[in-house]
Amino acid sequence: MKLLVTGAAGFIGANFVRLMLKGRGTGKYKVIAFDALTYAGNLANLKDFEEQEDFEFIKGDIRNPEQVETVMEDVGAVVNFAAESHVDRSILAGADFISTNIDGVRILAEAAVRHGVKRFIQVSTDEVYGSLESTGLFREDTPLHPNSPYSASKAAGDLLALAWQHTFGLPVIITRCSNNYGPYQFPEKLIPLFITNLMEDKKVPVYGDGMQVRDWIHVMDHCRAILIVLEKGRVGEVYNIGGGNERTNIDITRRILRLLRKDESFIEHVTDRPGHDRRYAIDASKITGELGWRPEVVFEAGLAETIEWYRNNESWWQAIKSGDYLNYYQQQYGRRGVIG
Ligand SMILES: NC(=O)c1ccc[n+]([C@@H]2O[C@H](COP(=O)([O-])OP(=O)(O)OC[C@H]3O[C@@H](n4cnc5c(N)ncnc54)[C@H](O)[C@@H]3O)[C@@H](O)[C@H]2O)c1
Repeated sequence: MKLLVTGAAGFIGANFVRLMLKGRGTGKYKVIAFDALTYAGNLANLKDFEEQEDFEFIKGDIRNPEQVETVMEDVGAVVNFAAESHVDRSILAGADFISTNIDGVRILAEAAVRHGVKRFIQVSTDEVYGSLESTGLFREDTPLHPNSPYSASKAAGDLLALAWQHTFGLPVIITRCSNNYGPYQFPEKLIPLFITNLMEDKKVPVYGDGMQVRDWIHVMDHCRAILIVLEKGRVGEVYNIGGGNERTNIDITRRILRLLRKDESFIEHVTDRPGHDRRYAIDASKITGELGWRPEVVFEAGLAETIEWYRNNESWWQAIKSGDYLNYYQQQYGRRGVIG
């Protein structure tokens, strides 16, 4: 089956392609990796597959109906990772969040209906549920209460996708996952930012009191959940995905400091993010009970391995911090693979 993976050059998309071509999904799919290569897209994340026959990269934008129409030809299933994903950027400038995370979903859904796609997985986030107090968990029927421009745009994308299922019969399934960590995460997000800053002997900026709670999950556990949903999930359903692993930001920070043998003088408390959600925590019993998924990576081991990965792949993140990664597409592909 031809599988269209949008946003494939980003953090989770690239790890998902790895799962499909070198892990549990191997041999079942031909992967079409479609990505606009925004600042967050990095073709170096996909270089291990460039020569594989079951892989093709196409540069394109989900907001462009002609490009989407062309790439949707013969596609059996879509997994949509393409999004603007960084909350801080959505606070500074929201326009791309609205166009990609909402209208991009509409354009993909319309083309998917026309081409009779058999599965449409909309990859979403627990942030659509808003913020929890110190108790309680997000369930799939928790009312949506997004608080940032990012999470509001994702919630809108989810609702549109579900409306396309209800109205046009598009076989949509939504996944809502908690905070991911692991290899290939862009070093603007907390864990890779802190690891790479400390490797460069720089301080790490902790928002406010650092007591914000997130349910951290290894990216490969998230990807394995998406694969199960793709193959066994029920159409029209939402599945929460979480690590069962609640940690405060300050706890994560101290752990990273210890693993990199740095003391607390490297912590710099900075003004909190406006509207910062206090706590996210997931009830993942639906996907566990119905589809048999559960997280496999223990957090302490996963974090240590992630630090090791950033240690061993310094040229990958140095190229991002210097901006050189933006030239990779030009060097490798020229205009080959571009639609339109
Ligand atoms: N990172 C997390 O912790 C997390 C948790 C839950 C859900 N999610 C969701 O998972 C998805 C992927 O997240 P990520 O962390 O990998 O994000 P990312 O920012 O690392 O990657 C996003 C990718 O989408 C591409 N893209 C952006 N706009 C596009 C457009 N208009 N057309 C085509 N491609 C475009 C970018 O070039 C990039 O490669 C997002 O939908 C996000 O909301 C992320």
